[in-house]
Amino acid sequence: MNVHNFNISYQTYEHINELSVEDKLLCMRAEDALKTSYSPYSKFKVGTAIQLADGEIVLGSNQENVAYPSGLCAERVAFFAIGSSKPNAVVKAMAITAFTESFDIKNPVTSCGACLQVMAEFEQKQKSPITVIFYCLNGQIMKVEGIRSLLPFVFVEDRLAGIT
Ligand code: THU
Repeated sequence: MNVHNFNISYQTYEHINELSVEDKLLCMRAEDALKTSYSPYSKFKVGTAIQLADGEIVLGSNQENVAYPSGLCAERVAFFAIGSSKPNAVVKAMAITAFTESFDIKNPVTSCGACLQVMAEFEQKQKSPITVIFYCLNGQIMKVEGIRSLLPFVFVEDRLAGIT
C-alpha cells in the first residue's frame, strides 16, 4: 500500500481591504450579483462576478426551481452565459459570495463539485488557470490559483482518450 499526499496552497485574508483593487472590485460585484438571486426554496443567495481577459465582468446568481434539480448554481449560470455569448472569452478570475437571512455566514462558501468541474472545463479549454476568490461578507476571504487546488482528482479530457 502507498499513501499519497496533496500539497494544496491557498491564501486567506481577514478583510476585503487586504485585497488588491481588482480583487476587491470583483468581490463587490459578486455582492451586487446577490440581488438577482432567485432562491425562494433555500433562501440562500449566491452571487458571482467573473473577470474576463478583455476586462468585462460577467455576473451570475443562483436560480432555483420548484422542481429542485432544475435550478442552477450561480457559478454555472455565469459560466454558461459566457460560453454561449462569448465562446472565445478567457476567464481570468472570479469572486463568489453568499448571503442568507437565516444565519450569519462566518466562513467562505466554497463552490460545489459540479461547479468546480465546469470551471475546470474552462481552464482546460482556455489553457490558463482561473483565480477563485471566496468572499465571506463577515469572515475570512479565501483565494486559490487554479481549480486543481479545489478539485485535485478532476475528470479531464485525457481520461476519455485513454491517455491517463
Ligand atoms: N449554490 C450555488 O449557487 N453555488 C454553489 O457552488 C453551491 C450552492 C446554490 C444552489 C442553491 O440555490 C443554494 O445555493 C442552496 O444550495
